[in-house]
Amino acid sequence: MDVMDAVRQRFSVRKFKEYDIEDSKLERVLEAARLAPSARNLQEWRFVVVRDPDMRASLAEAANGQNFVGEAPAVIVGCAVTSEHVMSCGLHCFPIDVSIAMAYMTLEAVEQGLGTCWIGAFNAEKVRRLLGIPDDVIVVGLLPIGYPDQEAPPKNRSALDEIVMEERWRS
Ligand SMILES: Cc1cc2nc3c(=O)[nH]c(=O)nc-3n(C[C@H](O)[C@H](O)[C@H](O)COP(=O)(O)O)c2cc1C
Repeated sequence: MDVMDAVRQRFSVRKFKEYDIEDSKLERVLEAARLAPSARNLQEWRFVVVRDPDMRASLAEAANGQNFVGEAPAVIVGCAVTSEHVMSCGLHCFPIDVSIAMAYMTLEAVEQGLGTCWIGAFNAEKVRRLLGIPDDVIVVGLLPIGYPDQEAPPKNRSALDEIVMEERWRS
């Protein structure tokens, strides 16, 4: 699949078919994360793959009761093991690095006929406790993944000329 096709076809899936994901497909999705770029090649990302139905239900509860999170056959929990490194631009690497890897996963999921939804609304402490994640590891996002059971809605995005400026900032 052309990269741009995957970008166009990806959408936030909030209704999943009940059946499971093939291990080979999940592995391809995780491989996309593994190959993602990271600052200083730190690769500080770690991913907990949760398939257990009871644990998925608990994760949904920790995600402010977003039930569809638990209805996906798997939830990938994206974490960072290092939070100290700050780039000279002043930004921490870890949320950026983990987010890039997770974005790669969302695109490879499309290639595999799967759907995902980035979940940023969750109680990190609850997720940490449920999965035994140490205190110094940061939970960056949850990614329920499975076969979509809904059609893609139209993309609602600003036009390019509203978000792109030529040569310098223009207010
Ligand atoms: C950082 C981040 C956090 C998000 N958190 C949630 C969330 O907690 N629950 C949810 O249903 N969607 C969440 N979304 C999905 C966005 O609502 C969605 O990407 C946006 O509306 C654009 O729609 P699309 O993904 O279908 O193109 C999140 C997306 C991002 C990038």
